This record gives sequence, C-alpha cells and structure tokens, in this order.
Amino acid sequence: MATSPLDHLDDEISRLLAEISALASLDELIAAEATLTGRRSVLSTLQKSLGSLEPEERRTAGAQLQAARREVESALEVRRGLLEAQSRAQVLERDRLDLGDVVTEQVPWTTSVGHPGLVALTQRALEDVFVGMGFTVSDGPEVESDWYNFEALNIPPAHPARGLWDTFYVELGEPETVVLRTHTSPTQVHLMETAVATGTLPIHSVMPGRCYRRDTPDARHLYTFHQIEGLVIDRGITFADLAGVIETFTRAYFGPDITSRLRPGYFPFTEPSAEFEVTCTICRGEGCRTCSFTGWIELGGCGMVDPAVLAAVGVDAEEWSGFAFGFGIDRCAQMRHQLSDMRALTENDARFLEQFS
Ligand code: PHE
Repeated sequence: MATSPLDHLDDEISRLLAEISALASLDELIAAEATLTGRRSVLSTLQKSLGSLEPEERRTAGAQLQAARREVESALEVRRGLLEAQSRAQVLERDRLDLGDVVTEQVPWTTSVGHPGLVALTQRALEDVFVGMGFTVSDGPEVESDWYNFEALNIPPAHPARGLWDTFYVELGEPETVVLRTHTSPTQVHLMETAVATGTLPIHSVMPGRCYRRDTPDARHLYTFHQIEGLVIDRGITFADLAGVIETFTRAYFGPDITSRLRPGYFPFTEPSAEFEVTCTICRGEGCRTCSFTGWIELGGCGMVDPAVLAAVGVDAEEWSGFAFGFGIDRCAQMRHQLSDMRALTENDARFLEQFS
C-alpha cells in the first residue's frame, strides 16, 4: 500500500499534546506557538504535502488534518487559559501590600469617606423599581397651601378627616393656611394641574419626598419622614391595575417571600380606598413588638382617585380614571433591613450608618 503523508499523524498529535502540557509559562507558550500550530509547525508542513495527492485522497486527508489541527489548537487554548490564571495569581501575590503589621495599619481618611444615608439609598432603590415598571419620577414642594394638602384632595376645612393628619402649620399669611405637607398626595394635585394645563395626560408617575406630622416618635413613626406617592391617570384604569402594581412592586422590592395585602380603608381622596400592608420582616409574620403582634406592617394607603379630586383639578372624569398610592420610604427601609426601631434612621450614629452603602 502506498504511504501517505499522514501515516504518522497520530504520533505527531500525541507528541504535540505532550509538548503543550509541558509548557510551563506564558512566555514559553508564546515562543512555541509557531512550531506547534503556526507556519513552521508539522501540521503546516503536512498541509503543504497534501498537494501531491490525488483529489479524492486529498479531500479525506485534508479533513483528517483539519480535525488534528482543531485538537491541537484547543489543547493550546486550554493551556493558555491555565497559564494566564497562574500568572495573574502570581502578580497578585507579588503586588500584595500586606507585608505584615507595617502597611496594614489603617490610614484614618480611608474609612471616613461618606455615602448617602439609608433613606436616600432606599428612595433610589424604590425609584428604580417604579422606573422599571414605566413610571416617571416627579418632585413637589414640602411647604404647601391648605388647598393642595387638603382641599383639592376632597378634605374641606374642618372636615373630621383632617384628624388623620396631625399637621404642622407655618406662620405665614392667614393662620392655618400654610402647612408642612403631611403626605406626598399634594404632589398629585400639582401633577394633574400641570397635565391639564399643558394637555399632557395620561400620567404614570411616582413622587418621593419628605413629609411632616406632629407625631410622637416611636419604633414605627418619625415626625419627619418620607413617602413615595404613585399616580396613574389614564383611560380605562381599574382597581385590578392598582392591585397588580402593588403586588408587582412588593415582590420586586422585598423579594418573593414577602406578600402584600389590601384591606378596606378610608381616605377622602380615593374611593374605594385600601390600606396596603406587607408581611412583617422582623418576625416573618409570627407577631412581634414592631408589628404590634399582628404579623403585618402597614406601608401606606391607596385607592381609585375620587371623582371629586379629578373635578377639583379639571380632569374630565368621563374620559379619565386612575389610582393613587402613597407609602413610607422609611418604613420600607425598616422592613427591608429589619430595623426593629425606625428612630435609628435619624440618630446619626456612625456605627449604624456605616452598615449601609
Ligand atoms: N396620603 C395618604 C397618607 O399619607 C396615603 C394615600 C396616598 C392614600 C394615595 C391613598 C392614595 O396617609
């Protein structure tokens, strides 16, 4: 039988593979590449010799050689990956600064670089969730007139519902006409007014910000706190849309093991209204001091925007409907990070603050 240039191919491959696994460094590998797989390699020489074969034979031999080349090349790449990892590890080891006690001493300023506080971080995280759901983020004033904070929200002067919000008044103008907003709901009013004036309905927006109430601070209350308001005004919006948004938000922010529930509630500016609660993350629903042994923590309120509110800002209730919600940002931080007492958020204790960045 006639000899073929590929008679010793298997031996050649074994030899090349052995050479590859003997390469001890990246430099060695780079130096050997030309003779292993490059122009000066046995594989290339064999490739050239195929020219003397009959067409039929050449095709079979070509395919065989191709397979051999792939095998050698892939062994070379595996080796390269390994040697690269080794070399990285060596560099790290060589450049490591820890030479004992001398340079590990802490330089004071390296530990005192500041970062946003937990409330700001929480607000950002909440905005991210809602932006991901298609909401825009809007801002509103912290000092409001009585009209924005109450009247436009269907809470006329002396209405008993005002008792729901213990209000700080600002000494400005007529007594009791300028307030520190008790909730972020007045921002809804600003948004709807602007959208009507500029013809830019629908609205899908969240409005985070600081609020004030004359509350006595305790484990779940601060008198300066933060809420995030949500408002959707569009065509054909139903309570199911509201419930869907609340549930989607709860899972996205707290994780799949925390559930939400809506309980019938009362707010003058929504009808029907509901209270929005989530599983207490401190006791996982077992009942503890923080949740007053109910297993649930109230995050806020929600409901379908009352037609009286739409009328106050000139939104045509025949064409548009919507829902709103508002809940505590500080409360979210408390639940997400299992803070048994919310007052930790305002105490400026570095040992607490440093845990979040
Ligand atoms: N503003 C209400 C509160 O602070 C919460 C709320 C917002 C309820 C929007 C319904 C709709 O108590």
